Amino acid sequence: MPGDKSISHRCLMLGAVAQGTTSLTNLAPGADVAATAACLRTLGVEIDATGPLARRLRGRGWAGLRTPPAPLDAANSGTTMRLLSGLLAGRPLSVTLVGDPSLSRRPMRRVLDPLTAMGARVGSDDGHAPIRVEGGHLRAIDWVSPVASAQIKSAIMLAALSATGTTSIAEPHPTRDHTERLFPAFGLSRTVDGLTVKVPGGQEATASAPDIAIPGDPSSAAVWASAAAALPGSAVRIEGICLNPRRLGFVDALRRMGADIRLEASGEAAGEPVGTLEVRHGGRGADIVITAAEVPDLIDELPVLAAGAALGGSLEVSGASELRVKESDRISTLVAGFRALGVRADERPDGFVIDGSHPPSGGAVDAAGDHRLVMAFALVGLGATGPTTITGAQAVGVSYPEFEADLARLTT
Ligand code: S3P
Repeated sequence: MPGDKSISHRCLMLGAVAQGTTSLTNLAPGADVAATAACLRTLGVEIDATGPLARRLRGRGWAGLRTPPAPLDAANSGTTMRLLSGLLAGRPLSVTLVGDPSLSRRPMRRVLDPLTAMGARVGSDDGHAPIRVEGGHLRAIDWVSPVASAQIKSAIMLAALSATGTTSIAEPHPTRDHTERLFPAFGLSRTVDGLTVKVPGGQEATASAPDIAIPGDPSSAAVWASAAAALPGSAVRIEGICLNPRRLGFVDALRRMGADIRLEASGEAAGEPVGTLEVRHGGRGADIVITAAEVPDLIDELPVLAAGAALGGSLEVSGASELRVKESDRISTLVAGFRALGVRADERPDGFVIDGSHPPSGGAVDAAGDHRLVMAFALVGLGATGPTTITGAQAVGVSYPEFEADLARLTT
């Protein structure tokens, strides 16, 4: 699997502000992580390519960041824009962050509000990009986030490093904890107590970790796992993927759908458990329900789980209104696209219902610039009775440029 996207962003950002050299291998290959690397270079950070997906960062601590000569372009990447806003809010720099039309529609107030409460001078276009950061002195806050979002949590954690005092962040449901896991590798302290993370201010990162090998991306693995589960006679074995429980909600969902699954941990990398996932078709899919508490652990995998359900069984999702503010409105775009492929699908305000009792016909569908929908539509197409054409399929390059090649390899 390609390297994990979430972990890649964080390793680049922490390596960029650390004192010393950080070497990364198996970096996520997509456009999102390339956008983070390009922004950091524009901020003056030296990043050398030491292999196709290997980078060496020569960090000079916070002092290595300079006011960039041009706006930073986060392209399609929410993680880049939100985490960089936090990282830069407490530095004496003047920075503008821009994004593509999709990113410019996504909500940024959820990050700008806590940063403003810390004393940051941040501006936006009515809560949307472009974001302007006039960095300066920050003070610690106790933030209770109404949204379960690792991007909000991580942006505040990164800002907290530059603040005076200890910042605490409480979230309504646990979210992916990659930032928490990476802090110690960069000599940064934090404490975790249930749903609350605390970060002492006035910290500078040091590149104390040996080379970091980024584990495979479970969100990309979920496509093949869902395909193997849904398509009769199929099986897949995926090695070297991140087995962080906060990313494995899809495994539990696939088991409930009836898939035969084996998970085996084999080691650790980037502070994360790593191992092998084996998935085998286990018969016609069962009817399953996914509700709010489960959603953060499988938010990015809902489109491919929906595709699996469209090929047998049924899936009812609620408490997932966050899907509406992803790279596209993933509720209405997914339902419209599935219907175009002959799937019985219904939209709900905070989710959707998929009825997979009849095989999809296939057809023509537009991915609306959303990489996760390209993969979900492709999976529906694999099980459809007729051919499927996906326009805008190049969007898959945001997270998984080798998707088409891997699809061909796995289906021949
Ligand atoms: C991410 C967190 C999630 C996820 C996104 C990556 C991260 O977003 O959907 O793809 O790297 O922290 P939210 O924090 O907005 O839920």
